[in-house]
Amino acid sequence: MTKITPYRDGPYLVRGPFTLVDQDGNEIEVRRRVVALCRCGRSQMRPFCDGTHKAIGFQAPSGAPAPLTAAADAEEAPPEARDS
Ligand code: FES
Repeated sequence: MTKITPYRDGPYLVRGPFTLVDQDGNEIEVRRRVVALCRCGRSQMRPFCDGTHKAIGFQAPSGAPAPLTAAADAEEAPPEARDS
């Protein structure tokens, strides 16, 4: 089974059997059993992580975001949607 772990303030670690392909379906060679995929968008070797996330102070939680509440939904709605 493949396991993908979003590391706090870091990359996605992918463990297990998987095939990595680009959006056209071309396989991207993976030379390791565990691969770190960039999620900060600043790596110079995307889609792989090169550690740049540390230098730029990338922040992201490891877990899923908290579910939105109705109050949070209203705050994020555009003004015209709030008036109705
Ligand atoms: S997550 Fe490591 S360089 Fe982007």
